[in-house]
Amino acid sequence: MNLKNKTVVITGGSEGLGFSLAKKFSSLGANIHIISRNKNKLDKAVESIGLNIIGHMADVSNTSDIERITSEIGEVDVLINNAGVWIEGLITDNSVEEISTAIDINLKGVIYTTKAFLSKLLEANEAHVLNIISTSGFKGRANQSVYAAAKFGVSGFTQALEEDLIDTNVKVSGFYPGGMNTTLFQKAGSSKGGSDWMDTDKVAELIAFMIEQDATMVIDHVVLNKRKTKTSN
Ligand SMILES: NC(=O)c1ccc[n+]([C@@H]2O[C@H](COP(=O)([O-])OP(=O)(O)OC[C@H]3O[C@@H](n4cnc5c(N)ncnc54)[C@H](OP(=O)(O)O)[C@@H]3O)[C@@H](O)[C@H]2O)c1
Repeated sequence: MNLKNKTVVITGGSEGLGFSLAKKFSSLGANIHIISRNKNKLDKAVESIGLNIIGHMADVSNTSDIERITSEIGEVDVLINNAGVWIEGLITDNSVEEISTAIDINLKGVIYTTKAFLSKLLEANEAHVLNIISTSGFKGRANQSVYAAAKFGVSGFTQALEEDLIDTNVKVSGFYPGGMNTTLFQKAGSSKGGSDWMDTDKVAELIAFMIEQDATMVIDHVVLNKRKTKTSN
């Protein structure tokens, strides 16, 4: 898809990978809509990108928020389900509320947002739903069972949706990154992450390449990792 003048909706576009995606798609001439909960961060992101970007305050796990945003936006060509939160620890350490919030945002948020935007995507000439998953969406690791449950769920949703939409104009892709240098973990009180983790601006280049493929081809599943060293695992 040639992204010039196309409309791209990015959930969680105010920081981290979502913000890098907003910058990248804006540089390709697309009209951007970013969705997130914190107004200050949203305003800052919109101001920093400047042209052809609108910020929408909404929680992806709240269906009425998402319905409202859908009605505020006209045509949509690309939906990137990127918003997410980190949760770690044994399930005995996770409260029922924490588990519920993580599943609501990381799994149900992707399903609700896709459901809300699908009729607009089906009306476009060419359209694409791209879900930001995680390597935790195909490999269960210690201390992240709830996060993995949500991300495995998004992986299954993505694969099945691709089949459901196979005869339509809407492509569906899953993107599975390893660790990226964002404040995702820090905000959840975790010590994970670091400046040697993947740079989101570079990751965004690859995601743009996935969307830019012409209508006859789809890059449907991509795993991207930082190269391992002898001392890392
Ligand atoms: N960082 C990594 O190492 C890594 C690795 C693999 C996969 N991922 C996945 O990649 C995606 C982006 O992660 P990131 O590291 O860029 O995270 P980030 O820097 O923490 O950014 C997350 C974004 O999502 C928004 N958000 C969170 N909950 C939301 C909600 N309920 N409704 C709307 N927006 C919401 C945040 O804004 P507000 O808080 O203001 O709403 C923010 O804009 C996530 O799905 C994450 O699970 C990350």
